Amino acid sequence: MGVLMHGKSAVVTGGAQGIGLAIGKALAQQGANVALVDVDPRRAAEAAEQLSTEVSSQVVGLGCDVTDEEAVRAAVGGAVAEFGRLDVWVNNAGITRDASLRKMGVADFEAVMNVHLKGSWLGVRAAADVMREAGSGSIVNMSSLSGKSGNPGQSNYSAAKAGIVGLTKSAAKELARRGVRVNAVQPGLIRTAMTEAMPPEVFAAREADIPMKRAGTTDEVAQAVLFLASDMSSYITGAVLEVGGGRYM
Ligand code: NAI
Repeated sequence: MGVLMHGKSAVVTGGAQGIGLAIGKALAQQGANVALVDVDPRRAAEAAEQLSTEVSSQVVGLGCDVTDEEAVRAAVGGAVAEFGRLDVWVNNAGITRDASLRKMGVADFEAVMNVHLKGSWLGVRAAADVMREAGSGSIVNMSSLSGKSGNPGQSNYSAAKAGIVGLTKSAAKELARRGVRVNAVQPGLIRTAMTEAMPPEVFAAREADIPMKRAGTTDEVAQAVLFLASDMSSYITGAVLEVGGGRYM
């Protein structure tokens, strides 16, 4: 347990499991009050209940579909009502609908763009409304190395993740003079439910391509987000931090 985030309040979207839950845990372990936001309110509540038993700060679970403008505003309002302030907003919610260009339908493209790109934009906009007034805050957006390198079968996902970099930089430039920082993280191959869906031989081949010769853990991504969320990165904005074991240097 540390005190890096003592007295701060943070929201993590897609926080019920995987990388989002690890981020929520890392922030809470450093003293932040945390709202785990997820499209599935029951899983958000269960994750929050479990995490509460491990930390001394407050952890709540909130239901919110990040593609829904009103729901995102309500999540911001909910966190402010619960904790009295909003210091950190992490746009982490994500889905995949992988398919080759030949097979991918418009619905697969739109679903992925909506959750990642529109969802992140809605989150940035709603969080910025509160942070701008407060004169401080840190927003962290979850991009991916797929957004930099492209990935076969992920034309929708890679486009959305590259779009998140543009969103991050534009928002960073707009909000810098208001004391609000906006940064992105680009994880490489991380072991979660999302990547466990990959065939084991594909996963192993991807690992072999990584200079560090292994997938990363959710905690390793969470530590990078914690750095960007905290005052340790007080002079960093518009940055894109790779967490990929040396992939795509
Ligand atoms: P995951 O599938 O384990 O968790 C994603 C969470 O987002 C789930 O709890 C899900 O319910 C939630 N979610 C999905 N749609 C939502 C919506 N419309 N509104 C609110 N919540 C929603 O995924 P994982 O692996 O933890 O990924 C988290 C983020 O990290 C995603 O943005 C993903 O693209 C990104 N990422 C993951 C990598 C990996 O190797 N696992 C690599 C690079 C980036």
